[in-house]
Amino acid sequence: MAAEPLTALLSRALAESYALMLKSHNYHWNVTGPYFKELHDLFQLQYEELFLAVDEIAEHIRTCGALAPGSLREFAALSQLSEPNATNSDMEMLEDLARSNDAVAATFRAVLRAAEKVGDDGSVDLAVQRVRAHGKAAWMLRASMSRGGAKSEARSAPVTRAPRPPRLAKAKAKPKPKPPTSPLPKQEEAAAIAVQPRSARPGGRPRSGAKASG
Ligand SMILES: [Fe+2]
Repeated sequence: MAAEPLTALLSRALAESYALMLKSHNYHWNVTGPYFKELHDLFQLQYEELFLAVDEIAEHIRTCGALAPGSLREFAALSQLSEPNATNSDMEMLEDLARSNDAVAATFRAVLRAAEKVGDDGSVDLAVQRVRAHGKAAWMLRASMSRGGAKSEARSAPVTRAPRPPRLAKAKAKPKPKPPTSPLPKQEEAAAIAVQPRSARPGGRPRSGAKASG
């Protein structure tokens, strides 16, 4: 069986990259769940990267002298990627995208081997770049999955604090001596003094006109 020509392999890689871009965009729109914002942004990051990549791959196919496929029908016929499913859960979307990235990376590895065989350095360089890009994308997707993800681990990790230095023992302050208190509350004390005859008051003089007893 004859090996798939390099440009045919490149065309398949282009179709799969386009299909993956569309799947990432689909999941960007339809993802739901508690990690919506993070996944919505991650999927956008990836379909934007793919949007630039498909242009580079298509133009590389042109430099190799072949026509670049560029219709949905052609892409559907060339790509072996599964269709996106908008009803997937957020974790199923991550898993699907990670596997699709693995699949596209495998196609680019086939491009790499074919390019090395014919000594096409340009195609080797492109294939190496794409293998690396899909490896990174798959890592980011898997790291975001479930509670095994790096982000979730960081979230659930117990907060460890440095132990507090021992407090310096406060010098025990001597209790202040209390002023002597009257057995009566202040107001009652004043009232008691007011009803006493002056002579009976401490230091008081007998009233004028009052007969001295005795
Ligand atoms: Fe958007």
